[in-house]
Amino acid sequence: MTQLLTIAIDGPAASGKGTIARRIAARYGLRHLDTGLLYRAVAVLCAGDGIPLADERATGERAMRLDPADLERDGLRSAAAGRGASVVAAHPAVRAALLDWQRDFAQEAPGAVLDGRDIGTVVLPKARAKLFVTADPDVRAARRWRELSKDREIAYRDVLRDIEERDARDAARTDAPMRRAEGADLLDTTTMTIEGAVTEAIHLIDGQLAG
Ligand code: DC
Repeated sequence: MTQLLTIAIDGPAASGKGTIARRIAARYGLRHLDTGLLYRAVAVLCAGDGIPLADERATGERAMRLDPADLERDGLRSAAAGRGASVVAAHPAVRAALLDWQRDFAQEAPGAVLDGRDIGTVVLPKARAKLFVTADPDVRAARRWRELSKDREIAYRDVLRDIEERDARDAARTDAPMRRAEGADLLDTTTMTIEGAVTEAIHLIDGQLAG
């Protein structure tokens, strides 16, 4: 039986983990799942159905009925969807509903790169390679602000506050908090270009796969 190659990439918002995960998937010929999209879709669907995001039971039930097509919906990348995602992601019922989906995705040949907050700790603790990608909050906020201000006027301080609130909620929750997994290499992209970060990520992963 050929061994599956699974790679876990975790880290906070705008750390560069999404771009790194996509590029790593292309480099190793793997499929890629941005797991944040699952939580974003649950938040957007609940808001559309009038389900309060604080209602664990109802949001958990909605998460159980998530369909792959829901990940293609418009609006999932908005700041509001990210905030809502961070709120529903604190509910154990929502996390439990999305766990098998993520694991099933990773178990299909030839394997996959998953990026999120708890991939190396909970979803794929036995991943063959793990990275925790981070950067200083002000640098992450500046990156996110540049992206969002292409479409509309938005204040940098609001983006920074949003990032700080999200970091705090994602790291403080009891169920699967965001943290560096055992065995994960730390990649701090604060002073790196995205090309430099991808090169370093490949270097670290090649090292883990060889080790
Ligand atoms: O990576 P992102 O910004 O799209 O994630 C949105 C929110 O979803 C994030 O603030 C926390 C939650 N999330 C999570 O709890 N676990 C994951 N594996 C991925 C995302």
